[in-house]
Amino acid sequence: MASLRALSSTRVGTFFYRKAPSSTQVLASCSIWCRRNLYGSLRRHNSMSAWVIDQYGTNEVLRVSDEIMMPTINLASEVLIKVEAASLNPLDISMRGGYGATLLKLRRDPMSVMQNDTEFPLILGRDVSGVVVECGSQVTHFAPGDEVWAAVPPWKQGSLAEYLTLTEYEVSHKPKSLSHTEAASVPYVATTALSALVNAAGLCSDNCSDKRVLITGGSGGVGTFSIQLLKAWGAHVTVTCAGNAEGLVRGLGADEVVDYTAGDVAAQLEATEKYDVVLDNVGGVDTERWALGLLRPWSGAKYVTLVSPLLHSTDAAGLVEGLGRSGCSLHSKALQNLLSRGVFYRWGFYAPDGPALDEVSALVDAGKLLPVVQACFPFSQVPQAFQRVEQGHARGKTVISVGGQRDPLSEQEEGCPVEDGGRHARAQTAHS
Ligand SMILES: NC(=O)c1ccc[n+]([C@@H]2O[C@H](COP(=O)([O-])OP(=O)(O)OC[C@H]3O[C@@H](n4cnc5c(N)ncnc54)[C@H](OP(=O)(O)O)[C@@H]3O)[C@@H](O)[C@H]2O)c1
Repeated sequence: MASLRALSSTRVGTFFYRKAPSSTQVLASCSIWCRRNLYGSLRRHNSMSAWVIDQYGTNEVLRVSDEIMMPTINLASEVLIKVEAASLNPLDISMRGGYGATLLKLRRDPMSVMQNDTEFPLILGRDVSGVVVECGSQVTHFAPGDEVWAAVPPWKQGSLAEYLTLTEYEVSHKPKSLSHTEAASVPYVATTALSALVNAAGLCSDNCSDKRVLITGGSGGVGTFSIQLLKAWGAHVTVTCAGNAEGLVRGLGADEVVDYTAGDVAAQLEATEKYDVVLDNVGGVDTERWALGLLRPWSGAKYVTLVSPLLHSTDAAGLVEGLGRSGCSLHSKALQNLLSRGVFYRWGFYAPDGPALDEVSALVDAGKLLPVVQACFPFSQVPQAFQRVEQGHARGKTVISVGGQRDPLSEQEEGCPVEDGGRHARAQTAHS
């Protein structure tokens, strides 16, 4: 709209009020005007700024461009969202390097799975908080101007861009009590945690009061969200994390904390009561072995890991063999654990779920869930934000302010992310 208004109010007027131009001058001016203004305005209207990658690799492959094609609404159920803030997850670092490319390519476009490079330029970023600017004809829950948040499926173009499209099923109204930068820290970890805890572990707000849950890797994005959700549902929560994260996880409500850097973590946990559910954010053969041994035997207790070999297998061995290997591995472990000790072995995955985010939104506005933002970078410093996440040792989330919205979290000097920011203090206040 801005560019169309500019078109009609400036150059058109100048052109028509010139004195007695010759017909050649008119044609030449017309052609220049068309090239400079009409095309320019359409190009501006059709393009946007985004951080993209054109090949997989290290941080050097990240490139910012203001000539990326604007997404358009292709389905009647889609909404076009102006991105105000995004956040990074470990998946963005992995996807930058090509992780999951085989399976994600199949999900994006089954017809192009055998072709190279069809996914580029690829936009990363799995969380969005923003404003709806346009709705497909069958969208019923949203209207232009609505403030929304969503977790962007990994097979769709991401949120490190000015605009993106999602189906209305994937989107939810943003909590009113959060700024965009705070809100952007939540959706991907929330939908992942809900998918793992509800769909895979069978937990919900009504059945948690007598449940003991162990969360490994409780100080990261998924962990800090899961602790709060399970406490809101009434579960008893034990967390493993480094000693320097104990204050954070206790502030979020953790009942017991085991420092995995202070000796044998399995031995420390064996001294605690058995668990009904383990949510494993750390993974690995060793963790899996001792964590399964901590479940109440013959009680239907569940081990859910978020660190599955599925995408690695399909990348390494191809679709058919990778899916086959993963399926065999999952079924044999599930069968073995069920038959030998009566516990369920499961893999948890992110799943797009706008309605689930509606429930999270209500819990946030009721003060029961808080965002945990470790650092906030401006849009110009996306590579620095990737570096930050790649260093590991997350304490909550790393957020990126995209829309330039004034926000306490983004009012920092360039190159100076908010580290261990005020959100922790808020979390401690609310839960203590
Ligand atoms: N399957 C899916 O769909 C899905 C979706 C989301 C996430 N995930 C995966 O789930 C895992 C967790 O995700 P996230 O977003 O929470 O990651 P994150 O934000 O990077 O958090 C990981 C946390 O674990 C801590 N940690 C590392 N080693 C540990 C250990 N041995 N014991 C206890 N804590 C340890 C880290 O801090 P310190 O190193 O300082 O201890 C960090 O706080 C990642 O592997 C991620 O890729 C999978």
